[in-house]
Amino acid sequence: MANVAALKDKAARAALEHVEDGMRLGIGTGSTAEAFIRALGERVASGLRISGVATSERTAKLCASLDIPIVTLEEMPALDLAIDGADEIDPALRMIKGGGGALLREKIVAAASERMIVIVDQAKQVETLGAFPLPIEINGFGMMATYLAIQKAAAALGLGGDIVLRKEGDGPFITDSGHLILDASFGRIPDSEALSAALHAVPGVVEHGLFLDLATFAVVASDSGVTVIKRR
Ligand code: 5RP
Repeated sequence: MANVAALKDKAARAALEHVEDGMRLGIGTGSTAEAFIRALGERVASGLRISGVATSERTAKLCASLDIPIVTLEEMPALDLAIDGADEIDPALRMIKGGGGALLREKIVAAASERMIVIVDQAKQVETLGAFPLPIEINGFGMMATYLAIQKAAAALGLGGDIVLRKEGDGPFITDSGHLILDASFGRIPDSEALSAALHAVPGVVEHGLFLDLATFAVVASDSGVTVIKRR
C-alpha cells in the first residue's frame, strides 16, 4: 500500500491540473493542502501566475516561503477556485473539516469561490459523516453556556457523545480568529443539514466543521490511482 503522504501528494498534483494561469485561488490548510501548496510553488517558480487567499496563518507563511503571491480576501473577495483537504467526505460530498483548526476561514474562502476541489486520500471517504469528531468554533465568552446549548441542540436530534475543548500545550487551542474549538464526538450523523442548522442557531457558535454544498468535486487518491468524485 502506498504511504499516506504519497497519496496526499498524488491528490494534490491531480488538483493542480485544474489551476490555470491568472486564477484567483483559495488555498487550504492541513497536510494535504500543504502538499498542494508545495506543488503549486513549483509551478509558480516555473512561470504560472496566480493570486491566492490563504485559509490560515500557517498556509500564508508556507506560501510566502515558496514565493506564492498571497493577498487578503478583502483585497480579492471573489475567487475562482478553492482547493482544500477534508477530515471526512461522504458520497454526496458533505464533509467534516477543521481538524487543523482553520474551519472558519476555510468555509469563508470556500463560499467566496466559484468552485471548490477537495483533495483527500482514500481513508477520508465514509458512507456517513461522524466518526471524526466534529469541530465547532465558539466564542470564548460564555463558553460553558454555549457548550450546554450545543449539547441540548444535539440531543434534540438524537446525538450524544463527548464534547471536549481542544487543547494546545497547557492551554486551549486558539484559532487564527481568536476563538476556541469544541470537538464533538457525536458518532454517526444521519442528518448533517439538520445538525448544521441547529448549531448555527446557538448563540456563541461562530462556525462548525460541516461543509455542505460547497465541494464541486473531490479528487481521491488511492492505491489504484486517482478518482474524481462528483456529487451524487
Ligand atoms: C484544517 C482542515 C483540513 O483540511 C483537514 O483537517 C484535513 O487535514 P489533512 O490534510 O492534514 O488530513 O480542515 O482545518
